[in-house]
Amino acid sequence: MEEFQVKDKSLAPQGHLQIEWASTHMPVLNQVKNRFKKEKPLKGLTLGACLHVTKETAVLAETLMAGGAKVALCGSNPLSTQDDVAAALAEKGVHIFAKRGQTTEEYYWCIDKVLDYKPAITLDDGADLVGTLHSKRTKELPNVKGGTEETTTGVIRLRAMEKAGSLKYPIIAVNGAYTKYLFDNRYGTGQSTIDGVIRATNVLISGKTFVVGGYGWCSRGIAMRAQGMGANVIVTEVKPLKALEAAMNGFRVMPMSEAAPIGDIFVTATGDINVIRKEHMHKMKDGAIIANSGHFNVEISIKDLEELSTAKRTIRPNLEEYTLKDGRKLHLLAEGRLVNLSAAEGHPSEVMDMSFANQALCAEYMAKSAKMPPKVYSVPRDIDETIAELKLKSMGVKIDELTEEQKKYLATWEMGTT
Ligand SMILES: NC(=O)c1ccc[n+]([C@@H]2O[C@H](COP(=O)([O-])OP(=O)(O)OC[C@H]3O[C@@H](n4cnc5c(N)ncnc54)[C@H](O)[C@@H]3O)[C@@H](O)[C@H]2O)c1
Repeated sequence: MEEFQVKDKSLAPQGHLQIEWASTHMPVLNQVKNRFKKEKPLKGLTLGACLHVTKETAVLAETLMAGGAKVALCGSNPLSTQDDVAAALAEKGVHIFAKRGQTTEEYYWCIDKVLDYKPAITLDDGADLVGTLHSKRTKELPNVKGGTEETTTGVIRLRAMEKAGSLKYPIIAVNGAYTKYLFDNRYGTGQSTIDGVIRATNVLISGKTFVVGGYGWCSRGIAMRAQGMGANVIVTEVKPLKALEAAMNGFRVMPMSEAAPIGDIFVTATGDINVIRKEHMHKMKDGAIIANSGHFNVEISIKDLEELSTAKRTIRPNLEEYTLKDGRKLHLLAEGRLVNLSAAEGHPSEVMDMSFANQALCAEYMAKSAKMPPKVYSVPRDIDETIAELKLKSMGVKIDELTEEQKKYLATWEMGTT
C-alpha cells in the first residue's frame, strides 16, 4: 500500500522547523504527548484523520503516534495544506495524502487513501471523512469504533445524520467543548481571518467599512478584531438574539442587502449557503473585497459571481479580480475557501493547543470506552476542565480556590438577605 503522497518531499527541513515552532507554543498538547509516551493508550490502533494539514496538526499527529497509534492523514480543504509540513510528516512516518491546491477529485482521492488504512478511530474536520465512510465506503464501517469532529459545520452534518438514523458509530463533537469554541472559533478565527485578508490584499483595515456575515463564535471574533484595527464594522445576522448582542456590542446591524452598497470588505463565517449572492453583488461598490472564513466555499455564490462577470484575472496569490458587465470590479479572496487557512496559516498554535488537546484526549476516551451507541456526544466535562487548568498553569495564571465556608454557602439555600 502506498505509504504517503505529498507535493514535494524536499520541503521537509522547513516543515520540521515549522512543527518545532508550533510545538513550542502548545504546552498542553505536549503534556498530553508526554503522558501518551509512557502510557500508550492508542497502542495498536489506526487513526484516520481528515484535518487541515498545518504545523499544529503535525503536533497532534506526533501526540497520537506517541500514544502508540498508526496515523493516516489527509487535508480537510483543497487549499489549506502546508506542503512543507506535509513533507515533514511523511518523514515522521505519518501516512499522509495531502497537497495544497487540489481538485475536488484529488481531495476525495486522498480521503479514500486514508480509509484504505481501515481506521478504528476517525478525526474529522467538516465531516467529509465520515460522509465518505457512510456513502462510498460502507464496507469499512465495521472497523470503526468511534470518532471526533472538530468544527461547527461538521457537527451540524453529524446531527443531521443522527436525526435521520444514518450515523453508524459514536462521534464526540470536539467543537462543543468550552476550551474549543470559546477560544479557537473566536480568538483563533478572529486573528487569523484578519491575517488572511491582509496577506491576500495588504489593504489598510483602518477606516474601511468591514461587513461581517454572522455573529456566531467565529464571526464575533472577526468583528471584534476588525473593529480593533479601526474598521467601521457592520454585522448581518438571521437570529434576533445574536443580532441584538451585536447591536449592544456597538456594531451596526442590518440585512446584507443594505450592507452591500456600503461595504469595502466582506467576510462571511456563518456555516450557511449563499450568504453573499447575485442580488448583493449587483449593489456592491467598485473594488469591494469578498472573503469567507466559514468551513465550506458555499457562503459566497461563486456561480453568481462568474455569471455576472465578463473577465477574471489573478492579481496576486489568493486575490482574484472579477470584472462585471457594468465595468465594476469585485475581488474574491482564496476562491471563497476559508481565507484564514488558504491565505494565511490558520489559527495560532496557542489556541490549537487546546482544540487539539481535546482531540487527543477524546481519541483516548473513545479508545478506552466500552461500545457506545451511534450518537453525537459532548466532550466529557472533566476533559474540558483539565485542559483549562493546564492552559492556565502554562500561562502562569493562578486563580482562587473556594474556602470550606464558600463551598457550604454555595451548596445550601437557607441563608438569604442578612
Ligand atoms: N475559519 C476557521 O478556521 C474556522 C474555525 C472554526 C469554525 N469554522 C467554521 O465557521 C462557520 C461558523 O462557525 P461558528 O462556530 O461561528 O458557528 P455559530 O453557529 O456559532 O455561528 C454562525 C452564525 O451565523 C448566523 N447565520 C446563519 N445564516 C446566516 C445568514 N444567512 N446571514 C447571516 N448570519 C447567518 C447564525 O445565526 C449564527 O449566529 C462554520 O462553518 C464552522 O465550521 C471556521
